[in-house]
Amino acid sequence: MAEKISVLIPREKVEERIQEMAAQINKDYEGKQLHLITILKGGVFFACELAKHITVPVSLDFMQVSSYGDGTKSSGIVRIKKDLDETLEGKEVLIVEDIIDSGITLHYLMPVLEQRQPASLKLCALLSKPDRRQKEVDISYLGFNIPDEFVIGYGLDYAQKYRNLPYIGVVELDEE
Ligand code: IMP
Ligand code: MG
Repeated sequence: MAEKISVLIPREKVEERIQEMAAQINKDYEGKQLHLITILKGGVFFACELAKHITVPVSLDFMQVSSYGDGTKSSGIVRIKKDLDETLEGKEVLIVEDIIDSGITLHYLMPVLEQRQPASLKLCALLSKPDRRQKEVDISYLGFNIPDEFVIGYGLDYAQKYRNLPYIGVVELDEE
């Protein structure tokens, strides 16, 4: 099966929006130090682009989680595959995630991180599919709401491919 890719959000629009998000973050965290937690692997490209436009002091940490399921249906069980290197106590923490889909992952993860007593804990996501939501998640900084379509690029993969595309695309399976 060949895969056709169409552009959903072009590179310039993605980057422009990330700059706007960074500007808002710079305002909100003025005079503070920000601890960015990137969710591997998908959040990496977004986090890098965002961090380049943040002007308050930034520290970085990384976490990898997986939700069990067959890919299309998540079981609701979330496992921490790689935990953070540093403590969160007293820090202004911002989670950076590629996309909020069912909401299951972050709905589980946020209370877990809250228990580690950060000064504050907020979520920043590049994309959200509100039509797919099963669990409520409070997104403080959102790039784009998108329709219920499987997207790739800017960190998002289809079978581990396409993460490096500099735009948000949609995969169309072409049965030939
Ligand atoms: P949630 O727990 O259902 O919100 O799922 C979050 C994770 O599913 C994201 O961090 C992505 O890794 C993955 N995901 C959800 N939708 C897409 C998509 O359209 N393309 C690629 N990955 C996706
Ligand atoms: Mg992810």
